Amino acid sequence: MSISWFPGHMAKTRRLIEQNASMVDIVLELCDARIPISSRNPILSEILGSKPRLLIFNKSDMADPEVNEDWIGAAKGDGLSALCCDAMGGSGVDRIPAMIRSILKERIERDAQKGMTRIIRAMVVGIPNVGKSSLINRLTGKKIAKVEDRPGVTRAKQWIHVPGGLDLLDTPGILWPKFDDEQTGLHLAFTGAIKDDVLDVEEVACELLSILARRYPECITERYDVPDPQILSGYDLLEAVGRRRGCVISGGEINTERAAAIILDEYRAGKLGRITLEYPKGNEDDGLRTI
Ligand code: G4P
Repeated sequence: MSISWFPGHMAKTRRLIEQNASMVDIVLELCDARIPISSRNPILSEILGSKPRLLIFNKSDMADPEVNEDWIGAAKGDGLSALCCDAMGGSGVDRIPAMIRSILKERIERDAQKGMTRIIRAMVVGIPNVGKSSLINRLTGKKIAKVEDRPGVTRAKQWIHVPGGLDLLDTPGILWPKFDDEQTGLHLAFTGAIKDDVLDVEEVACELLSILARRYPECITERYDVPDPQILSGYDLLEAVGRRRGCVISGGEINTERAAAIILDEYRAGKLGRITLEYPKGNEDDGLRTI
């Protein structure tokens, strides 16, 4: 996957999401529970207006369970229905049809009074790699073809039936990430939403390590046997991890590029534990990102 969002792509993507949204009753917006700010794009609210929406914190199996709860509370406070799920393992996915019915309750009741039962139509929207295809596959029990991440690659729309009176558009809406500041870019890089070959992996790994050392020092200590990571700089941590993992080249020098790749791979695979990098307002901690 490579992401290159040119203004033309963005305009086209926006039009596509608008068109598809006009055909559905509700939009399922996916964000990454580890970075719920950087993995959402406010443009979606602009595109959707008052269209009913369910916000899904996906990959919640890799995020801090306490912070997951905080995020659900924060979404409710903003008047948004939300739930946490793990589209890969399946947990939370079963609750989605019932939540959709609850959001559309008034319309369903109005229809019932007229003696009508309409199938509810929904679509899944989110940035690349957030779990859209996994969620569609889970909900429908079918394997849909992975959609090209580049906008403009279109194919015929199909509706897939989900038990419980729900039809799902088989093509997810791919939203571009915000990229509006360095921190957003870094957080997207940590989670693998931006391809490594456009990044300086050592810099990304150092930034990740210094955040983890502040917020989740025990994860570094347990995984890499580095005592007191809080007192080390990102680069010192990178070297310490490299040493522990045998990334040593001639003269005892540390191959920091290899160490960086190890850290990023292990963080993305959830091997360092359940870690959230962005918090709702009021739960901020030493300068970590909040809304
Ligand atoms: P997309 O359509 O939004 O681009 O995302 P996709 O479903 O392809 O998911 C991207 C990657 O994230 C996949 O891993 C997928 O397995 C993983 N994933 C999706 N949802 C979850 C989740 O809730 N929890 C966890 N832990 N992982 C999730 P991959 O390594 O790129 O591919 P694969 O080999 O696992 O299929």
